[in-house]
Amino acid sequence: MKDVCESLKAIFSTDTWGEVIVSFYNENRVVGLMPLGLKLSEECTLSGRLYAGSRFYSYIISAGITELKCNVCVTQDPVLFCTAIFDKSKAIEILTREALLKKYCDICFTGFCEFQNRGDIIDLRVKIIEIVLYRELPRVFTRVNAAIIEALIWFTKIPYMECRDLATILEKLEFLREIVYRSTQKKLYIEFIDLIYSKALELVREIESSRCRSGD
Ligand SMILES: Cc1cc2nc3c(=O)[nH]c(=O)nc-3n(C[C@H](O)[C@H](O)[C@H](O)COP(=O)(O)O)c2cc1C
Repeated sequence: MKDVCESLKAIFSTDTWGEVIVSFYNENRVVGLMPLGLKLSEECTLSGRLYAGSRFYSYIISAGITELKCNVCVTQDPVLFCTAIFDKSKAIEILTREALLKKYCDICFTGFCEFQNRGDIIDLRVKIIEIVLYRELPRVFTRVNAAIIEALIWFTKIPYMECRDLATILEKLEFLREIVYRSTQKKLYIEFIDLIYSKALELVREIESSRCRSGD
């Protein structure tokens, strides 16, 4: 249990959603597979939410399922996320074959997932029973990392942008700020995205009042 807790704490956090790929099993058959956001929760469990709209959500509701065996694959590989959305059978093949699993996943957690129906949302909680490590330093994908880096890239482009594109850049930054707000409660990340946005706003105003005055 100590090992499970330590591994989970090294990868997941209580304040930021870690995006993973989860496969669900009923009597050794895969009955669902999807990218999901999970957070570290009480007693070294992982918690997440199933939103209405997916086939898997409907399956849980219609079959009145309260618990399923599951496998959580931690990876930063966008290929596996895309496969999990656009080619579920291929993703099932990857996640059920050891040789392929180790090619795509940094670490896999096997456990039992409990479902609690709350209307439009099903709360889920995963209790881990087994860990298989495939990479020395496993890292979970977070939208917050991606959004902050993307926002920084756009911020650094501002000085070279055409005047007519400046408003679009601010819209992109607003969108990225929204992603950060929605995917973390970590103060430092929120402060950074706010800083990027306010600096961008300042810079755009400065540029608009200097080189954009002629209406370029
Ligand atoms: C990175 C990522 C994270 C996602 N997180 C969630 C989530 O936390 N909860 C959820 O219900 N759907 C989430 N989704 C959407 C589901 O993965 C999607 O609805 C599901 O794959 C649909 O498959 P199904 O209709 O076969 O069940 C996420 C999608 C992506 C790409």
